[in-house]
Amino acid sequence: MKGLIIYRSRYGATRQYAHWLGEELQLPLRQPEEISSEDIANCDFVIIGSSVYVGKLLIRKWLAKQMPILQNKKIFLFIVCGTPPEEQEKLNVILKNNSQLSLLKQATIYFLHGRMLLKGLHWLDRFGLKLGASLVKDPKVKKEMVTDFDDVRKEHIIPLVKEVEAFVCQEKVLA
Ligand SMILES: Cc1cc2nc3c(=O)[nH]c(=O)nc-3n(C[C@H](O)[C@H](O)[C@H](O)COP(=O)(O)O)c2cc1C
Repeated sequence: MKGLIIYRSRYGATRQYAHWLGEELQLPLRQPEEISSEDIANCDFVIIGSSVYVGKLLIRKWLAKQMPILQNKKIFLFIVCGTPPEEQEKLNVILKNNSQLSLLKQATIYFLHGRMLLKGLHWLDRFGLKLGASLVKDPKVKKEMVTDFDDVRKEHIIPLVKEVEAFVCQEKVLA
């Protein structure tokens, strides 16, 4: 079975998860700009990774462009963000904000907790965060928005790895 990992990351959290997945599943990694529609068409399944900025997937423009091909593929999507996995309502808002995801009928979606270290951010991102936080009333949420976190851990990919392995196994049996 032919599979591929395509990801977009700004500061490395999604890249780190993509590399771990590549190692565990023995799959090649690509950036969206390195991939043609033909490359995708030749795959049996695609693992797509993206982080989230101001509610939107970093990879959204590429997703929209490739949607006609992706719609008919088995897709495993991992979304890397600051919203913790237990905050399901907020994660649902991310899904809603990225409405094109509903077109991926054969997609399995995983949320993986990411990393944000203020010191390493581009000034525009730091400015955006501070501006966003200044508009939030809840003091707890306000503080969280401008506080470092790093929860990028290999164990988070285990359920996704298991599901991809099960899919590959099942398809081999059916072939
Ligand atoms: C400017 C900025 C905006 C962000 N907006 C969101 C957001 O709307 N929702 C969220 O859950 N996380 C948000 N995050 C957290 C990132 O998604 C998180 O840091 C992620 O791990 C970044 O991954 P990357 O390094 O692969 O780009 C934001 C981070 C920054 C710096």
